[in-house]
Amino acid sequence: MIVSPSLLAADFSRLAEECEMINNSEADWFHVDVMDGVFVPNISFGSPVIKSIKKVARKPLDVHLMIVDPQRYINMFRDLGADILNVHYEACTHLHRTIQQIRDAGMRPAVTLNPHTPVSVLEEILPDVDMVLLMSVNPGFGGQKFINNTYDKIRRLRKMIDERHLNTIIEIDGGVDNNTAPLAAQAGATAMVAGSYVFGDKDPKARIAELKSLKQ
Ligand code: DX5
Ligand code: ZN
Repeated sequence: MIVSPSLLAADFSRLAEECEMINNSEADWFHVDVMDGVFVPNISFGSPVIKSIKKVARKPLDVHLMIVDPQRYINMFRDLGADILNVHYEACTHLHRTIQQIRDAGMRPAVTLNPHTPVSVLEEILPDVDMVLLMSVNPGFGGQKFINNTYDKIRRLRKMIDERHLNTIIEIDGGVDNNTAPLAAQAGATAMVAGSYVFGDKDPKARIAELKSLKQ
C-alpha cells in the first residue's frame, strides 16, 4: 500500500516538524491539497507554503489540485517541485491535453474523480495516466465521513485497469481510517491519502505504519 499523509490536517505552526515526521515514517508521499475557493468552497494554501514543504520533504509530493482550469498552473507546480500532479476530471475541458502537458513537464499525471463522477468517463484516458484518485468525500474539507459507494466504484475501476493490463495506481482520498482503509484495499485500492486519521492521532507514525501494512 502506498501511503500519502495529507498535510491539510497538519499543524501549520509546526510545518517543518510535521514534514520531518513524514520523512521518518513509512509514508511514501506527501499529499498536498491546493484549493481555490471556486472549484471547492474552501481555500487552502499556495506557492509559498508548497515551496517550504519542498525544502524539507525527502519524499515525492503528491499534489492534488482542487482548482478550476488547472492547466494554467502546470509549469508553476513543476517549478515548485510537484512529482505527481492530480487534476480533477470535472475541472478540465481538454483533459487529454492537460495530461500530456503534465507528462511533458516531467511530472506523473493523475486524474481525480468527484464522488458523483462515474469511472466509465475514464475509458479513453486510463492508459495515459499513472494514477486515478477517487474522492471518497466531496472535496474541500478534511475530517468528513467516507462515502460508502466508493467501495463499488473502486471495484469497477480495478476491473477496468485489470482488463486493460495496466498498472494504474488507485488512490483513495477522504475519510480514510482503520475501518474504511482495509475495505478500500480489499476492493482494489493501492494508495491511501489520510489527513485527520494520521495527524489527529497521538502516534501519527503508527497510523501510517498501520495503513502501510494493508494488503489487497
Ligand atoms: C479533501 C482533501 C483531502 C483531505 C482528506 O478535499 O482532498 O486530501 O485532506 O482529509 P481526511 O483524511 O481528514 O478526510
Ligand atoms: Zn486531497
